[in-house]
Amino acid sequence: MNPTRTLLPMLGHTRGGRSAATCHFKCADACTKPDCNTSSNGYFKDIADKSLSRRGMLGLGAVGASALVIGPQLFGAADATAAPLVPMKPGKGGHLSFDAIEPVSRSVDTVSVPEGYDWNAIIRWGDPLFKNTAEFDASKQSARKQAEQFGYNCDYLDIIVDKYSGRTGVLVANHEYTNEDMMFDSAWFEANQEEARKIAMNAHGFSVVEVKRKKNDKKWSYVQGGERNRRITASTEFRVDGPAAGSDLLKTGADPTGTKVLGTLNNCAGGTTPWGTVLSGEENFDQYFRGKGTAEESRYGIGTTATDRGWEESDPRFGLHNEGYENEANRFGWVVEIDPQDPSSTPVKHTSLGRFKHEGANVRIAKNGKAVAYSGDDSRFEYLYKFVSKNTFSKHDRKHNMGLLSEGDLYVAKFAGNSPASEIDGSGAVPSDGAFDGMGTWLPLVKNGESKVEGMGIDEVLVYTRQAADKVGATKLDRPEDVEPSPVSGKVYVALTNNTDRGKDGKEGATEVSPRVRNRDGHVLEITEAGNDATAAKFTWNILLVAGDPNVNGSTYFSGYPTDKVSPISCPDNLAFDSKGNLWISTDGAPGTIGYSDALHKVTLTGKDRGRVEQFLAVPTGAETCGPLIHDKDNSVFVAVQHPGEGGSFASPTSLFPDFVKNAGGAGKGEFYGPRPSVVQVFKQDAKPGKGNGKGKGHDKGKGHDK
Ligand code: FEO
Ligand code: CA
Ligand code: CA
Repeated sequence: MNPTRTLLPMLGHTRGGRSAATCHFKCADACTKPDCNTSSNGYFKDIADKSLSRRGMLGLGAVGASALVIGPQLFGAADATAAPLVPMKPGKGGHLSFDAIEPVSRSVDTVSVPEGYDWNAIIRWGDPLFKNTAEFDASKQSARKQAEQFGYNCDYLDIIVDKYSGRTGVLVANHEYTNEDMMFDSAWFEANQEEARKIAMNAHGFSVVEVKRKKNDKKWSYVQGGERNRRITASTEFRVDGPAAGSDLLKTGADPTGTKVLGTLNNCAGGTTPWGTVLSGEENFDQYFRGKGTAEESRYGIGTTATDRGWEESDPRFGLHNEGYENEANRFGWVVEIDPQDPSSTPVKHTSLGRFKHEGANVRIAKNGKAVAYSGDDSRFEYLYKFVSKNTFSKHDRKHNMGLLSEGDLYVAKFAGNSPASEIDGSGAVPSDGAFDGMGTWLPLVKNGESKVEGMGIDEVLVYTRQAADKVGATKLDRPEDVEPSPVSGKVYVALTNNTDRGKDGKEGATEVSPRVRNRDGHVLEITEAGNDATAAKFTWNILLVAGDPNVNGSTYFSGYPTDKVSPISCPDNLAFDSKGNLWISTDGAPGTIGYSDALHKVTLTGKDRGRVEQFLAVPTGAETCGPLIHDKDNSVFVAVQHPGEGGSFASPTSLFPDFVKNAGGAGKGEFYGPRPSVVQVFKQDAKPGKGNGKGKGHDKGKGHDK
């Protein structure tokens, strides 16, 4: 027991770009701990490597080095004819016109938007969801109230507009983590730790809440008491499905079936499926568990000391040494799926997508109708994964589609560069062929319902997916975060947020796909599946941009776009597309690297402006930009403002976002004087509302379906 746990026990040891408090609460100071991946498998640097050379992968015989050309011919005739799904017009693109804003000082406590735009908070931490829910009052908070209020630290975000009205819909957000320093008065916290933990548990999970807008009013507001409103917390029952459901590895004393799990934890990014459900990744779940010290636990970062949140003191399932709970942590680290249209539905944990620190998951429908989901494992030197469903998408059968992620093949990515290793010196200097690029292969972990990993059964591959990927020789990347296929071109974008350990003693150094040592600012990959077929076993890739502030950093790269004409960008995290196929990138960590507030940027992908980065907004001091959602046809952009004012405390806040007044706890009823994580709508002041961008991100059954 630790009855005298105090707040703020850490601080002062952050790396990368985050504040020390964010490091502590979000991922339990993962960056101060040893990298979990100690496997020796490495990047394929040597183009003459026999086992995985391009020749080897293609099954070709030995040919001269001069024949090793990357290009359409690599994959045969089909690839040469591969075309974007919808022809993209080069140039401006997107219905939102704006002049990029200047980078914003990290001390500015507001949402900074382009000229002619305004912003509005739709829903804030603590806002009541149900008819009789108590108004938020931070000084009188309880677990019961929090279970009916909007949770803390919203991350993934979608607004799924109802098809016919265009003026109603559901907002879905997940709540990644809690910051007890900012949520609780320290004296109250120390006297009420049991209740504080339960409040924190109920501030995790998801919120589903109906939204509406009046005719000719562009501003959305949430509906207290809406029929579809729902909270999912760390205690909500989930059904486990897929090949590992019922495995001994998932059984506990409380759930001898291994198919029912209470709660979801640390839900970070996500994706809305083409059938209108919402996926979310259980990311840094390790920090909630006190482990037994097994090798399997340590590969996932689970430590043996008391956790900082101390939940194991309130609920035995968070102590893996407790009898009957040895496997509890195996029940987290999954992609979860919820149906926001049905508040009585049981949410699902999909074992078929593997268990790791999923940032999120994004689905596209391949030419042959299979659902393909991409997901990154967001830790240093971890991997990129792809799932391909066994069954195919059916346009008019939602129930059938909701089973697509239950069965299929799982792959992990192996990358090879096409430039000599000697030209990749770790500085970020572009090699002589003018690009960081090459090809890759999807290595099977599970295929046709069978493990493809020697010595591991299918349930072991799915529960210990990191170890399975180590064994097959996956490529270590610089923290793969959001992975998004473009609904317009079919190309797949991977945000690699940073990796300050690359090139350190004993660690893997620079490779063409991870070309900077001590990679502080991150980069973004662009992947083209062979034949633009999402189910392909091979792909080509190139780096779209190597992030940083080009004014002070010589190692940036923007696909050849002039570096003096881009907005500085650092630590790319979440990705989104507008209706014209421009990529939007939100950042997590810019204040600690380039010294500016975290931001949302638009990146042009085609035409003469390819590689142009334009900053659209900046979030308030201490915050991270999450969940970007681009309804450009509706002249609106939505972001989840996560951890505003992080680093401050309940007694000494550093942000007052979004109300900027004392007693922001609801109509003067509360005693709270501090920031509230919120969902924000940014809109063009003079524009009329449109019909919304269809039915929400990725929910349009026409687009997103590869033709
Ligand atoms: Fe929760 Fe990978 O950021
Ligand atoms: Ca190259
Ligand atoms: Ca993230």
